[in-house]
Amino acid sequence: MTGIDYSQKIPNNVDLASDKKLQRALERWQPDYIEWWKEAGPTDFNTKDVYLRTAISVDRDGWAQFGYVKMPDYRWGIFLTPYEGERKIGFGDHFGEDAWMQVPGEYRNWLRRLIVTQADTEPASVEQQRLLAHTAPSLYDMRNLFQVNVEEGRHLWAMVYLLHTYFGKDGREEASELLDRRSGNPDHPRILTTFNEPCEDWLAFFCFTMFTDRDGKFQLLSLAESAFDPLARTCRFMLTEEAHHMFVGQTGMARIIKRTCEVMNEHPDEDVQKYGAIPLELIQRYIYFWASSSLDLFGAEVSSNSANFFSSGLKGRAYEDKYEEHLAQDQFYVMERWKDGALVNEEVPMRNAMNEVLRDAYIKDSEKGIEYWNRECEKADVEFRFEYPHRRFHRTIGEFAGSFFDPEGVAIDEATWNTRQSEWLPTEADKAYVKSLMQKVTEPGRFAGWIAPPLRGINSQPIEFEYVRL
Ligand SMILES: [Fe+2]
Ligand SMILES: [Fe+2]
Repeated sequence: MTGIDYSQKIPNNVDLASDKKLQRALERWQPDYIEWWKEAGPTDFNTKDVYLRTAISVDRDGWAQFGYVKMPDYRWGIFLTPYEGERKIGFGDHFGEDAWMQVPGEYRNWLRRLIVTQADTEPASVEQQRLLAHTAPSLYDMRNLFQVNVEEGRHLWAMVYLLHTYFGKDGREEASELLDRRSGNPDHPRILTTFNEPCEDWLAFFCFTMFTDRDGKFQLLSLAESAFDPLARTCRFMLTEEAHHMFVGQTGMARIIKRTCEVMNEHPDEDVQKYGAIPLELIQRYIYFWASSSLDLFGAEVSSNSANFFSSGLKGRAYEDKYEEHLAQDQFYVMERWKDGALVNEEVPMRNAMNEVLRDAYIKDSEKGIEYWNRECEKADVEFRFEYPHRRFHRTIGEFAGSFFDPEGVAIDEATWNTRQSEWLPTEADKAYVKSLMQKVTEPGRFAGWIAPPLRGINSQPIEFEYVRL
């Protein structure tokens, strides 16, 4: 069954109607979710018509339909890539056995923790972005923000379905706590640090969708390999939606860079701030901040949890198929470790290095984005080149937390860090300047002066289409 049943209160392709108890439980959670959305989401825009895509099928082609929707009426639902017959476990100690349709008792706690941690990031990002529409540089961008927001809400639904269906009372409690925590709330914060960072301007938003949503992509890729089949199929469909989020980040940044390069060429040797563009060095500092913060999300370099998750079959590697063998036993990962203030090469058992393996894949993918932005500079004949920070730079989790490294990864002392960090991370003045540019532009087809228009509109609509009816 690939079609989605929209006649139900909760759209789904999991035949929810056949499990009355589960259906009732989720229908009780639904109004709490809507209440959370109205309070913690893009509150002031809930009555506006937004041109949004909604999933209508889980087929690869033609899965989405576009139309005007008021966000609280968005049809959030439960969509899994369809069950394709028996699947075998693709890695770890259970390699080759049948995938699980139920949660094995011995892995229940680990699995719940993995699901809750992923789930928590979804509403968190909506909360972080809740005020951004007030300063949207165009209706096109405002619409993209809302699209990302409603889909993060949908991802929360995906995870809550798993919690309700497979984790009984504990799962229901976790699901309600997911609506209670708040990004940045000191007493009741979201679980992961990056998801408590303020995201108060559009430069931060584009960095977030570029780097932090991309962490989501890699977490989902590794969970899409899970031996627990419902989780694997849930994550596969989430990945379809996720691609747009990173498109928003990558192209949003490219458009800002393009605009700055234009101003640089129009007014050589002058400060671009005089003309309302964002200096490339300032953009680089935002990149360093969000890229390094997002690197933390992969966890410690050496981790017994990551070994447990891999051995048990709960969390694999991204694109596990591409590996020649799937046990990762008696193998080693050679990594630079930080011991008593010195870098030392060390062989770490591969399973304990799974966080690093996933981080490697993520970094490779992120660097492609940097190259894409540098092409904007090349096209404009501007010499500046953006850089991705070294993985040791500005880390608060793992091996390198608490020590100091420059963006090339060279160890420095604290005093050097203190004098130089304003070259590397956004300063108060940077943020104030960016903030000063953040003025809402609402005329269809018009764009704020600090960002170039996109190459094309959404769903073949013209750029001047009225993406949000204000
Ligand atoms: Fe998501
Ligand atoms: Fe996302």
